[in-house]
Amino acid sequence: MSETSLDTLFGRIVLEQRLCTESELERCQKELKARLEANEASTVEQLLLEYGFITATQAVRLKDNIKESKAAAGKIPGYRVMGKLGSGAMAVVYKAKQLSLDRTVAIKVLPRRFTEKSDYVKRFYKEGRIAAKLNHNNIVQAIDVGEAGGLYYFVMEYVEGKTLYDDLSKGKIFDEAEALEIVIQLARALAHAHSLGMIHRDVKPKNVMINKEGVVKLADMGLARETSDIEAAKNEQGKAFGTPYYIAPEQIRGEVNIDGRADIYALGATFFHMVAGRVPFEASTPAEVMRKHIKEPLVPPDHINTSLSAGVAEVIEVMMAKKKKDRYNNMEELLIDLEAVRDGNPPLRARRRFNMEGLERLEEGAAVEVETEEISVYGEEIIARYRVFIVILGALAAVFAVALFFSLARGGG
Ligand SMILES: Nc1ncnc2c1ncn2[C@@H]1O[C@H](COP(=O)(O)OP(=O)(O)O)[C@@H](O)[C@H]1O
Ligand SMILES: [Mg+2]
Repeated sequence: MSETSLDTLFGRIVLEQRLCTESELERCQKELKARLEANEASTVEQLLLEYGFITATQAVRLKDNIKESKAAAGKIPGYRVMGKLGSGAMAVVYKAKQLSLDRTVAIKVLPRRFTEKSDYVKRFYKEGRIAAKLNHNNIVQAIDVGEAGGLYYFVMEYVEGKTLYDDLSKGKIFDEAEALEIVIQLARALAHAHSLGMIHRDVKPKNVMINKEGVVKLADMGLARETSDIEAAKNEQGKAFGTPYYIAPEQIRGEVNIDGRADIYALGATFFHMVAGRVPFEASTPAEVMRKHIKEPLVPPDHINTSLSAGVAEVIEVMMAKKKKDRYNNMEELLIDLEAVRDGNPPLRARRRFNMEGLERLEEGAAVEVETEEISVYGEEIIARYRVFIVILGALAAVFAVALFFSLARGGG
């Protein structure tokens, strides 16, 4: 890796880890360009430090991590590293040659802080083994897992193409048909994973790759985040944790029984972003985004993009229901609706859910209303009847008293 590409990677990781903002990084890059043109030597790293966007300690730690990861990748037996493909909040992904089969692969090297926990390591291998059992055209194929230079790595199929995030970050708004095509492929990939007992837990545009032929490939299967990352996000305002724009409420709450419906929610949030042109819940801090996932009602996507069909909007709303019991039960059920909408038919399963929910609400509401109404109606009626009764009784008593008076007067007279 050349010094400049290392510097570019440095900038990107600083941003991924939310140590600086996008505009801060852009400012450094612009300044760097200006200085290089003026024949002044400088780097993104130097400028980030100069402007005070990061501290010296942060810079050192980050560079050590990058170097360590690069060194580890170089020590993996049987592979030759050719360059870097990208980086996320947690890891660096390298392009490499698998020497035995003479094919290009992608190798993800995980940072050290994860490898210190023995239960994480155990799970890493266990999930790696499950991921290796998955075999689906829409899932990035797992090839190998292992340890080198004290770091753990994950070898996978190399996907030549782009991520869905690349498109979305350029502001692309997908038309319905194109979005459905992608979401259906992802739902099929997830249905396959779920059938083998594997939940993805981190479905998001950055984990959706689209190859040169337009085939969708779901990445990072078996590399689910730990819940401790969510805790870290809450405490550190998202440092070292991608902003949680797509995560299900029950995952934010740290529930232990995460099932396939968490992936339905995240896929729904991704679908929402594709057709609405923005994430479902926006805020300046990850903590606030997470609060909104849990508490704030979803703005229906067809209120943002009014050209959206009611069918697609209904499907997304059911996918993103806050309570998992209000979502589709499983990927198969979701696929029936997705394919129906694609074929121009109504999403019957979503509609049935809406009707059921409406009915439940109606029943609950109606029962309460009838009760209160009955009490108040009866109450007033009874009082009204009594009033009449008392008036009549009073009148009768008066007549009786008058009659008695006259009869007494006559008898007396
Ligand atoms: N199998 C792969 N083939 C090609 N590029 C990949 C592959 N996996 C990941 N990448 C690239 O590496 C980047 C970093 O991936 P990752 O570390 O999983 O972070 P994130 O998913 O948060 O973006 C991805 O955004 C993608 O551009
Ligand atoms: Mg990824």
